[in-house]
Amino acid sequence: MNIKVTSGHLKNARVKAVISYYFKEDRKFSKELEDLDRILDGIISELKKEQKFDGSDGKILLVPTLGKAKMDYVIVVGAGSKRKADLDKVRRLGNISAKAAKNLKIDKFLLDGESLSSTKENEDSIAQALVEGVILGSYRFDKYLSKKDDYKIKELQIRVKRKYKNKAEESVKIGKILAESQNFTRDLVNEPGNVITPVKLAEIAEQLAKEYGFEVKIYDEEEIEKMGMNAYLAVARGSANPPRFIHIIYKPEKPKKKIALIGKGLTFDSGGLNIKPGDYMRWMKADKSGACAVLGIFKAIGQLKPDIEVHGIIAAAENMPEGKSYRPDDIIKAKNGVTIEIGNTDAEGRLTLADALSYASELKPDAIIDMATLTGACVVALGEYTAGVMGNNQRLIDQILDVSKKTGEWMWPLPFNDMLREHIKAPHADVYNIGTTRYGGAITAGLFLEKFVDKKIPWVHIDIAGPAHNTKGWYYHPKGATGFPVRTITTFLIENTK
Ligand code: BES
Ligand code: MN
Ligand code: ZN
Repeated sequence: MNIKVTSGHLKNARVKAVISYYFKEDRKFSKELEDLDRILDGIISELKKEQKFDGSDGKILLVPTLGKAKMDYVIVVGAGSKRKADLDKVRRLGNISAKAAKNLKIDKFLLDGESLSSTKENEDSIAQALVEGVILGSYRFDKYLSKKDDYKIKELQIRVKRKYKNKAEESVKIGKILAESQNFTRDLVNEPGNVITPVKLAEIAEQLAKEYGFEVKIYDEEEIEKMGMNAYLAVARGSANPPRFIHIIYKPEKPKKKIALIGKGLTFDSGGLNIKPGDYMRWMKADKSGACAVLGIFKAIGQLKPDIEVHGIIAAAENMPEGKSYRPDDIIKAKNGVTIEIGNTDAEGRLTLADALSYASELKPDAIIDMATLTGACVVALGEYTAGVMGNNQRLIDQILDVSKKTGEWMWPLPFNDMLREHIKAPHADVYNIGTTRYGGAITAGLFLEKFVDKKIPWVHIDIAGPAHNTKGWYYHPKGATGFPVRTITTFLIENTK
């Protein structure tokens, strides 16, 4: 897809369709749309009246120009109430616009960003959000379909006021990289467990490293054992697909900070001996979402090249029941010496993360961020669309939450407390891998992780069990993997590490 920023008059646009936006509060068309209306002998305003188009959210006014103008269609999209018009609304409008173009099989169209300029958002951010909405909303996982839809957008133009053109060009470039990296993550997460095994995930990390010049180290079982990662190894043991520990590094010339990103990388989670019932096992191919998000973030920073050193760490494994599987009541010593009593083999993610967090702590980074499809309890607490955020440093938590407000990747803080700390005390080891009650399950999982992080290092844990995938699709997310939280973490890396 070729993307251009333009600032000429709408009537001169050399595209097949011009798509403009109209708020409920707008009592009339923009001057430019009025000009177009005049050229079209007033059919835009006529159809508006006829169809009682009032700018309601997502309503579409489709106007064929019948050879009277340069483009074949003028499309006005209802933008709803101006009060609710934040950047994520703009992303959704980008998605709706792309869908409208697709329905008409139009592969070259213009989105009128200027018509959204009366909101409180900057015009360059609006341009970026429109691009993100189009690219994210056009995503399909159709690799395995014999009959593919061959529609593709050839050219997308984003129109802004002339004085914002240069800035918008920069933002649009960033938006394209962010959205395409998020789609890369979606592609990986949507691949099933028979295709992406831990070994395969390591190969993908190696390819990525080659493409962008990252350093990468892959450790096999023997090396994992040598490093003392027994908690991780316990989880991996029951699978015929061996584990791989992935460490990928982006190192610019003079890094201002060093950040470690950890992603939960369960290529499939059957639950292990505490096997999941059938319905709960569906979508557990998406238990590698955190890991795939880390790789997507690396794809983005490989292109955006921020001035920070970034370490990506993935303890990839498959959780399966078998003769060699770890069992309930097993006691295991993690890499940092903490002993863990197993209450349930389905609480496996935190065991793989435990050793990954100890490993990351030894790198002495300025911050550690882990992302994990860790608990069903987090989905119960916040719903399917919002991630839970916890950690040991309020400032870092606030920074991530702030960025998430702009990216539209919804996140909400969950509070640690000493009473819940009691819930993970084990009878015969330093810690249990489950809480003594179901209550606060997302938090007790976070508190478990806390035991493996160097207290001096600011750390944030993002539980993405809800929003990492969606069985119905929502907004600009088609069914399946969403690529959450690639845009938030990448934007955080660019903006908050100076
Ligand atoms: N991968 C699951 C969590 C999950 C659940 C992700 C639903 C996405 C959607 C995790 O490994 C798990 O099984 N957690 C258990 C923990 C329990 C045994 C303490 C859970 O949430 O039920
Ligand atoms: Mn599990
Ligand atoms: Zn899991």
